[in-house]
Amino acid sequence: MFKIEANVPLQSHNTFGIIAKALQLVGIESTNDISSLLADPTLANAPKFVLGGGSNLVLTGDVKPLVLKVEIMGKRLVAETAKHFIVEAGAGEPWHDFVVWTLDQNMPGLENLALIPGTVGASPVQNIGAYGVELQDRFDSLDYIDLVTGESHTLDAAACEFGYRDSVFKHALHDKALITHVRFALLKTWQHEISYADLDKLAKKKNEQQPTPRMVFDWVCAIRSAKLPNPKVDGNTGSFFKNPVLTPEQCKDIIERDPHVAFYKLLDGNFKLAAAWLIDACGWKGRGVGNAGVHPNHALVLINKGRETGVPATGGEVMTLAKAIQTSVYERFGIKLEIEPVVL
Ligand code: EPU
Repeated sequence: MFKIEANVPLQSHNTFGIIAKALQLVGIESTNDISSLLADPTLANAPKFVLGGGSNLVLTGDVKPLVLKVEIMGKRLVAETAKHFIVEAGAGEPWHDFVVWTLDQNMPGLENLALIPGTVGASPVQNIGAYGVELQDRFDSLDYIDLVTGESHTLDAAACEFGYRDSVFKHALHDKALITHVRFALLKTWQHEISYADLDKLAKKKNEQQPTPRMVFDWVCAIRSAKLPNPKVDGNTGSFFKNPVLTPEQCKDIIERDPHVAFYKLLDGNFKLAAAWLIDACGWKGRGVGNAGVHPNHALVLINKGRETGVPATGGEVMTLAKAIQTSVYERFGIKLEIEPVVL
């Protein structure tokens, strides 16, 4: 049976380390917990917010909707096909621990997504991606409970409508679904994916063109740790903006004017520009607003400077900084950067 707690501090439940509280919070440890919560007439109709690891969240005040803190655990092999292992994890499992577990079981395929903060349940919402692999490339299906009707549903990849840091859970099912379990299809004939520039460079440096899954895992961990701040040390939500996707006409001028601009050509002919480069070019690295700052090593990551200043950043400072960055990138390049985390 679920238990409601009042005025729960959320600082340790959001990786930015922002001080705020949940007016009401319920830990959801099983599908039964959510079913009984939805059977309660008062709670059934209350506005709700689903909280995973809080790694993609900016809190701008206390959270008034009922917070559902997902703590559904468990990792298992659920099926085997001729080509795949189908593995499942409870939504509350920490993502990185699940990646490590799959490697320990000799079922590789998720190693490029190592060290991404957050939970398994949050991973499909923004279709997490890193170093040449997106969640949708390894996804099988997921179960969720409709927070309005209480019904459970299973969705395959097509029904999840995955896009770049995007899914149906940011649109039609926004605030309407609680993901309980996620399944991944991992190829039995593992193939390394090391084409991303940083990985390719490391493979060449180590003279290792046929790495093992464990090597790729170690390389990804090393690259991430060197570039991205550890949220346990300096609060952050990873990339704060999406990389903008432009048509060749839209970015022709920018590329001609600034031949150093970092971009990737997409299969559909469009270009994905590195938001980090655009922000860096506007001189934001290391600058900030109050106790919120731009990471000195990676311009796409906003950090909580609380460790340095002794005062944790507020959500208001983070959003003021984000808006100032958006304005300067727009004024210089005519590009509107889109904020990646959920702002509450
Ligand atoms: N760059 C700069 N200045 C900087 C940082 C980077 O000019 O301060 C340049 C780099 O030199 C590089 C380019 O920008 O040419 C891209 O940088 P990076 O390889 O670090 O990747 P990214 O595009 O900034 C994306 C994801 C990350 C993911 C990495 C690796 C988004 C929004 N971000 O970052 O995902 O880890 O690729 O695949 O797509 C996240 O979503 O939270 C996240 C960390």
